[in-house]
Amino acid sequence: MDPAHPCASKTARPAFLVSKIMFLAHAVLSGLTVITLIAMIPACVAQKIQLSLDASKSGDKIDRNIFGQFAEDLGHGLYEGIWVGSDSTIPNTRGIRNDVVAALKALRVPNVRWPGGCFADEYHWRNGIGPQRVVTLNPNWGGVIDTNAFGTHEFMDFLDQIGAEAYVSVNVGSGTPREAAEWLEYLTTAQPTTLAKDRATNGHQGPYKVGYLGLGNESWDCGGNMTPEYYVSQMKTYSRFVRNFNPEQQDKNQMLKIAVGPGGGEPRWTEWTDVVMKAYQSHTWSWDINGLSMHSYTVGKWPPAFASTGFGETEYAQILKYTLEMDDLINKHSAIMDKYDPQKKVALVVDEWGAWYAPLLGTNPGFLVQQNSLRDAVLAALNLNIFARHADRVRMANIAQMINVLQAMIMTNKEKMVLTPTYYVYKMYLPFQDATFVPVTFDAGAYKHGDISLPRVDVIAAKDTAGNFWLALTNIDPNQPAEIEVSLNGITAKSAAGEALSAPKVDSVNTFEEPKAVEPKPFSAKAADGKLVLTLEPKSVTVISIGQ
Ligand code: AHR
Repeated sequence: MDPAHPCASKTARPAFLVSKIMFLAHAVLSGLTVITLIAMIPACVAQKIQLSLDASKSGDKIDRNIFGQFAEDLGHGLYEGIWVGSDSTIPNTRGIRNDVVAALKALRVPNVRWPGGCFADEYHWRNGIGPQRVVTLNPNWGGVIDTNAFGTHEFMDFLDQIGAEAYVSVNVGSGTPREAAEWLEYLTTAQPTTLAKDRATNGHQGPYKVGYLGLGNESWDCGGNMTPEYYVSQMKTYSRFVRNFNPEQQDKNQMLKIAVGPGGGEPRWTEWTDVVMKAYQSHTWSWDINGLSMHSYTVGKWPPAFASTGFGETEYAQILKYTLEMDDLINKHSAIMDKYDPQKKVALVVDEWGAWYAPLLGTNPGFLVQQNSLRDAVLAALNLNIFARHADRVRMANIAQMINVLQAMIMTNKEKMVLTPTYYVYKMYLPFQDATFVPVTFDAGAYKHGDISLPRVDVIAAKDTAGNFWLALTNIDPNQPAEIEVSLNGITAKSAAGEALSAPKVDSVNTFEEPKAVEPKPFSAKAADGKLVLTLEPKSVTVISIGQ
């Protein structure tokens, strides 16, 4: 904090308060209005925030798929992060790390997007099945050799071990509709076709379930530099022919098809959304889409230059300002979607989002390795809150990326594994999976740093399927606690209990040497006169259930 800030020094504060009291006395005497007095209260004397929750009001279901993950064949995301091979000394089940599986199981990951990303549009699935894998290159990410040891069966086994659904992105950029159609037949048919027999020979007798199908990735850029019109004609063909044959996914649990959508708010992307959604409006029996993807990273500017460690309050405030732009972006593209799909049949799927910083020194820049700090925990909570508020349209999201890449849940180094601050936010938010959004009203106030002004706090509420009410509260202000007085209408609160995540510094991180520097701690509060008074630590995320 700036030492010149009135809240900076403990010794400065009494003198400051004395002068304030003198001012107040003088002001009362001179007949100034209360409004003037309030305006003169310095920024460091934070106001108590009044928040009200009306239990009789409810919004949309917060689809658990907004807690989805993304695992691209990139750097150590799959290899070493998930896959170590069955002859590894690292404890594994059929080549998949046990420690990582246990950590992810605890997150109840709803779905995992694979194999990319840009990688998907160069992936040929046949290279990754059977006893003899084809060794290829990974030109997108570091130009390294790809053994293809982690292929279709390994991915589906991994999902089975963690209990998640498959979101498979097919190759529209350099593949063919036939190649993609055959992949889906290989995966999903129960009939004794040659492809199904190959699947059985390769170790899986019955059909797999594929919940979500990505029809290309960033086709406006790394996925083939297509115009929106060209993409639409390609996408229709893929939508038509790439079928899911699993008998259990015909009437119910049908596979949802997700088209490539925008990568930002500029005119080329609003045009993209417009063209795809206009085509959707006149879709026929022969093709359909159920989702439009959107990618938006918190980066500041390209190429990514913000450091992921060793930064201060300025970079903390700047990054959080950028991340809050997610809300505008969703509003912008939702408005276009509303024009063509007022019934909101097509979901906006934010299937790549998160912080993208400069690569850590000493790492391969193509591997997108960065640290994950308390700032990222706050950033994750703010974005999850935005998605929850847009639950009517945003029904799926995938943070980039699951392990060792960008804003990861988990980092590994040989046999070591560390859980990141972002991991803990996902764990704390578990009660929000498939819960019903409950609107709350509050005046967030402002946290100011230099010329940046951000809301001081952010809060969402929800009712879970068992009828319990939950609050997720983020105190963005890194310098002051936030006191929140919660008034409840329709329920009587006796107490609140949950967890709070904070750390000494905005750039506090968990490392292999000090893995518990940023970890949630128990949090509880009692109600008085029917109101809950919660004191949130500076720069913190708190999730509580309301005890009735
Ligand atoms: O997540 C890293 C990359 O970012 C993805 O491969 C691509 O889709 C996006 O540009």
